[in-house]
Amino acid sequence: MSERFPKPGTLEVAPSILSADFANLSSEISQVTEAGARIVHVDVMDGHFVPNLTIGPPVVKWIRRCTEAALDVHLMITDPQAYAPRFIEAGADHITFHIETVNHPETFIERLRSLGVTVGITLNPGTPAESILKYVPLCDMVLVMTVEPGFGGQSFMDDAARKCILIREKFGPSVRVEVDGGINAETAETVVRYGADTLVAGNAIFGQADRARAMNGILDSARRAAAAQ
Ligand code: DX5
Ligand code: ZN
Repeated sequence: MSERFPKPGTLEVAPSILSADFANLSSEISQVTEAGARIVHVDVMDGHFVPNLTIGPPVVKWIRRCTEAALDVHLMITDPQAYAPRFIEAGADHITFHIETVNHPETFIERLRSLGVTVGITLNPGTPAESILKYVPLCDMVLVMTVEPGFGGQSFMDDAARKCILIREKFGPSVRVEVDGGINAETAETVVRYGADTLVAGNAIFGQADRARAMNGILDSARRAAAAQ
């Protein structure tokens, strides 16, 4: 089992490289990992489950060579069962799949574990939280999508984010709760109050000249919100 993905119980900001400069990916990743990021979020899109195309296993293979951070691979693809093994072989530490794309989640989760990764389950903003509850105890992380998946730089959806409250109430601190979409220093406070502990941020980090400062700004807000609880 990959040991890189942090165990539950810490607050983490996971920079999403979707908004990074892909011609300088190694430097982009170093800027956030040297500033303390332990998770790098990798958005995989197939032009079918979502209307956008991003990266495949060869890119993950090269990213693996330039960082020791945990590679948190978010599969926004119609057939994660066919492609997850290739991402794992390329160096993914953690795989998150969408509940909308898998008919027998238990079997897939077991398969992912046998391939040595930690597992996350996620759902689109319009998918009810109830659809994943049965599988959460089998997973290391729940990813609550706070935008429609497909693009960086969209606005945070508060209604979707509130699913974190239910997940925390039901499962306590045993599972990581990650949020993805529209996270910045302001929305970070809100999602931490709702129970999130893992904050994906793309545009709010890589859209700023000083990536390290932007990331730490989000982390500071998240820590303040956690301390106030
Ligand atoms: C959206 C992706 C996100 C995206 C978030 O489909 O899953 O990870 O990069 O980007 P921001 O933080 O810019 O909303
Ligand atoms: Zn993502």
